[in-house]
Amino acid sequence: MKVLGIETSCDETGVAVYDAERGLLAHRLYTQVAMHAAYGGVVPELASRDHVRKTVPLIREVLAAAGLAMKDLSGVAYTAGPGLIGALLVGAAIGRALAWSLNIPAIGVHHMEGHLLAPMLEDDPPPFPFVALLVSGGHTQLFRVDGVGHYTLLGESLDDAAGEAFDKTAKTLGLGYPGGPALEKLARQGRAGRFRFPRPMTNRPGLDFSFSGLKTHALNTFAGSGGDAQSKADIARAFSEAVIDTLAIKCRRALKQTGLRTLIAAGGVSANAALRERLASIAREMKGRVYYPKPEFCTDNGAMIAYAGWRRLAAGQREPLSFKAHPRWPMSELPAV
Ligand code: KG4
Ligand code: ZN
Repeated sequence: MKVLGIETSCDETGVAVYDAERGLLAHRLYTQVAMHAAYGGVVPELASRDHVRKTVPLIREVLAAAGLAMKDLSGVAYTAGPGLIGALLVGAAIGRALAWSLNIPAIGVHHMEGHLLAPMLEDDPPPFPFVALLVSGGHTQLFRVDGVGHYTLLGESLDDAAGEAFDKTAKTLGLGYPGGPALEKLARQGRAGRFRFPRPMTNRPGLDFSFSGLKTHALNTFAGSGGDAQSKADIARAFSEAVIDTLAIKCRRALKQTGLRTLIAAGGVSANAALRERLASIAREMKGRVYYPKPEFCTDNGAMIAYAGWRRLAAGQREPLSFKAHPRWPMSELPAV
């Protein structure tokens, strides 16, 4: 079974083909970052239009790279939500129409399920059950995962997502958009101990998060710092440490609470090297193990959508001929597999 995956939920067009026997055959990503950078963030209308321009050429490229013709495909998966409605509709319309024209099944994939299952693309995939930390630009969530579609929400951010806090703090420090990777780089030049940021919601029980206070803390610290290059780096360092420490404390708590030893981290922020190191040391301490996607599959991509779509198509799930996109879509609404 060869499944084409299409991701268009935000500012990247991702396309891939996953083969049940041979694994990932090919994948391509086109990022709109340069176009949105001038505006300091994603402009939804421009995002939709760019997906219209890029999706079909990328599908052709991926099929050529995989040495496949359209007729070799046995299913099409597209991101059906959550995300920007206009952007989602582009991938959904193209994906659903393509499947109809080829007379093969289609499936609408939940973007966060794509992230959650991305570690399964690696050679040494995590065994169920596990605790999943999903950290992206729109979500910060902890799940207990007992299988595909068996997700129990343990905790989530009550306000900003971790990635959003990275992006807003990066903006404060003048690092442009998207800020996560730039802020990570700057933090490496920062000195430890000059500033100390709070670890929100860690001194009370529970697994929820709150990151909007940290971004305000960064803003106030910056205003009182003189704004020189070293101060910026020191703030980046203190901010990163606070976010990473907070995520790590809650991951350890989630492992303790569930009695599980396996942790996975996925979503854009899980590309952060300092976070990966920190979670690895927690897993060691708990005599367990942490799994990640490779960094390029931490951020948005088509491979994770092709993989998640394949798992659902292989289980017989299908989308009707009409299609839907869901800007908001709780993962608890997904059917079990
Ligand atoms: O998963 P993703 O590509 O898109 C969403 O589904 O939101 O995540 C993007 C988010 C952005 O907020 C970006 O700044 C953040 O992930 N990010 C990082 C790093 N790479 C991406 N944050 C911290 N460190 C990184 N290395
Ligand atoms: Zn994402």
